[in-house]
Order: sequence, then structure tokens, then C-alpha cells
Amino acid sequence: MSKTVIIYSFHTQKSKKVAEKVIEVFGKDDITAINAEELTAKDFEENSNFILSAPTWFDGELPNYWDEFVPELEEMDLKNKTFAVFGLGDQKGYPENFCDAIGILVGILENCGAKIIGKIPAEGYTFESSKAQRGDIFVGLPLDQENQGRLTNERVTKWVAQLKKEIK
Ligand SMILES: Cc1cc2nc3c(=O)[nH]c(=O)nc-3n(C[C@H](O)[C@H](O)[C@H](O)COP(=O)(O)O)c2cc1C
Repeated sequence: MSKTVIIYSFHTQKSKKVAEKVIEVFGKDDITAINAEELTAKDFEENSNFILSAPTWFDGELPNYWDEFVPELEEMDLKNKTFAVFGLGDQKGYPENFCDAIGILVGILENCGAKIIGKIPAEGYTFESSKAQRGDIFVGLPLDQENQGRLTNERVTKWVAQLKKEIK
């Protein structure tokens, strides 16, 4: 099995801390970290399994570093590649756009033919609407350091165990 790649902004504080937890649980020898702010198409071409960090900013938008890469991403053929997305959000501060970035990024990846793994039941959070939610599931892992920070380690540990089973 080729190494899994985790992509997150090295300049964030909260997302970086959570990404480091993902790496620790995944096993640092089995995963390569790439800075989302220095992404190239080659990073996607040369790897097969990806974990992406997509915190939500600007009332339901992707952060700038993802937004800038989206035009290039949209042109890629991601068939036979596997993606899992986690994202930080704030369900009390932004209940109408809770973790929207997860859903936005997953939609783009799906249009490129990617296989999405790491979907979880949509329960345990209180919000009004989220692009990360489809019916009874979230299409990735929402994490809320502002309101449910003490649940993060447990959520990450469970999610990574699920990914390990789903990555073929
Ligand atoms: C200006 C601003 C806008 C935000 N908009 C949203 C939002 O629309 N939805 C959401 O769930 N969280 C939103 N958040 C909360 C962030 O996603 C949250 O603070 C997260 O932990 C940021 O992670 P990062 O600093 O690692 O990027 C927003 C935060 C700020 C400061």
C-alpha cells in the first residue's frame, strides 16, 4: 500500500494541531504531510490516498489556500484515488454554515471522479444547516474546537480507524 498523504495548512494553529493528531493516530511512518499552501498538481498525480483538512471560513467558504487551488483541482482526473476530508468549524458561531467547507471540497473531488471515504453518521452536533451533511451522514469529519474540543481526540481516533479499514 502506498503512503497516505495528509494535506493541511502548516500556518494554521487549530487545524495543524488536529492534523498532527491524525498523523499520530495514523502512524507517522505511514503518512506524508504536505502544506496546503504549497500544493502542486504533481502532489495529486503521484499519490493515491489523501486526507484533506478543510476548515470553514468566511461564512461557509473554503479558506484562501484551498480556494486558490480549486481551479487546478477541478481539471484533474481523480479516478482510482481515495479522499477523506476533515474540517474545523464552529457550530454555535456559524450554525447555518457549519463545516460547509467539507461539503464544498467533497463536491469538487466527486466531480473529478474521486472516491470519498470517511463518511460518518450526522449525530452529536447541534447546528441548522451544513453542506457537509447529506441526509443522515456527514461526507467527512466535522470537528469543533470552539465548542466540543474535548471530543476531538476521540472523534479523530475513531475516524482514522475507519479510514484504515476503507483504504484499499
Ligand atoms: C471570520 C471567520 C469565519 C468563519 N466562518 C465559519 C463558518 O462559516 N462555518 C463554520 O463552521 N465555522 C466558521 N468559522 C470557524 C472556524 O472554522 C474555526 O474557528 C476553525 O477552528 C478555524 O480553524 P483554522 O484556524 O485552523 O483555520 C469561522 C471563523 C472565522 C474567524
